[in-house]
Amino acid sequence: MRAVDLIVKKRDGLELTSDEIAFFIRGFTSGEIPDYQAAAWAMAVVLRGMTPAETYALTLALADSGDRLDLTRVVPIAVDKHSTGGVGDKTTLVVEPIVAACGVPVGKMSGRGLGFSGGTLDKMESIPGFRVELTTQQFLDQLRSVGLVLSGQTAELAPADGKLYALRDVTGTVPSIPLIASSVMSKKIAAGAQAIVLDVKVGVGAFMPTLAEASRLARLMVDIGRRANRRVVALLSDMNQPLGCAVGNALEVREALDTLHGGGPADFREHCLHVAAHMLLISGRATTLRGARSLATDALDSGAAMTKFRALVVAQGGDPAAVDQPDLLPKAPVVRTMKAPKAGYLAQADAKIIGMTAVALGAGRARKGDPIDPAVGVVVHAKVGDRLAAGTALCSVHASDSQKAQAAIEQLSPAFRIVARAVPRLPLFYCTLR
Ligand code: URA
Repeated sequence: MRAVDLIVKKRDGLELTSDEIAFFIRGFTSGEIPDYQAAAWAMAVVLRGMTPAETYALTLALADSGDRLDLTRVVPIAVDKHSTGGVGDKTTLVVEPIVAACGVPVGKMSGRGLGFSGGTLDKMESIPGFRVELTTQQFLDQLRSVGLVLSGQTAELAPADGKLYALRDVTGTVPSIPLIASSVMSKKIAAGAQAIVLDVKVGVGAFMPTLAEASRLARLMVDIGRRANRRVVALLSDMNQPLGCAVGNALEVREALDTLHGGGPADFREHCLHVAAHMLLISGRATTLRGARSLATDALDSGAAMTKFRALVVAQGGDPAAVDQPDLLPKAPVVRTMKAPKAGYLAQADAKIIGMTAVALGAGRARKGDPIDPAVGVVVHAKVGDRLAAGTALCSVHASDSQKAQAAIEQLSPAFRIVARAVPRLPLFYCTLR
């Protein structure tokens, strides 16, 4: 077999066999197949697509490029959740403690922010001392003793995916539904998940801007799960406006803590309870979604989820004082408020522009490895559909200096649109695929 023949075959729109895909990924991982051939192949996939069978073969080849974690000796069922990424999406910080507090241990490997979408690891690192790098043994020990782990992915899990993703990022080959689906699912399978809740974001602040595309991606991931004998449910959720109010690392941790303390924005609380309920249902902890929802609500309202989160922070070296007194989290020196220029109804709070502004303030990175500022970001004070008086606060910019705050206010101005007629609220979820 030669790599060039497989590139040509895909270029001509033919279906690759699972052996051919496994050969290609093995060669790419070992370095025998160079980046330029892998990039050409990825572009052929972007343009020609893949069948579900090819996508499944690619998922397994990526998952098998490194170690596979076996969690069956540590937990009765390994349940995981994955969000396809969005703006203000700090659900993991609340959902995982809720599920763990209901007696279902959760060990999650998360990523860093990329582009305008945030990453759980960056958020957790705004808690002083919190360590995200754990060895596999530490991960397993903590899962057993605390029932909750939030770490980075070890280099040994699906290394081909990391290598291929880095190449796709710089060759215009990220936006391919089969490549995204296999990338996400390979990591979940390699990390030992047996039951997975996928939170697939739809809208201007998501990888998939339309419901049709997001549904295709969700269906494909559910299909991969079925073929791999995993229980998978996909929830399609809105990402036209940020989830909750806070966008930026410490600001999002603070909002997650407010929610764990029983407050927090209503949309964010509702989103977390719904995702947590699906995790409890899919793990078998409850037999109906209603029963699962009631367990999740009790765990949140009783403070049990908060206690779990605190235990997680302590176990990973974080300062529990920052959990008890969120005022100790990093704070930006300059805070400026942007006000509604006229009365009316909020028709748009563009998640992408808000996410990009947070990155420009220093909350995200332009390139992998760039440093970030945990304190900065944007807090949005209004939701689409809200009726606003002239001069109402639309959002606050948290910046490291006044020049950056001013630039952010200017960048944010097209994000908000106010109209005279009433506007319907955006749904939190569009549909559920099993
Ligand atoms: N997230 C992933 O993990 N992989 C992709 O390809 C896109 C988003």
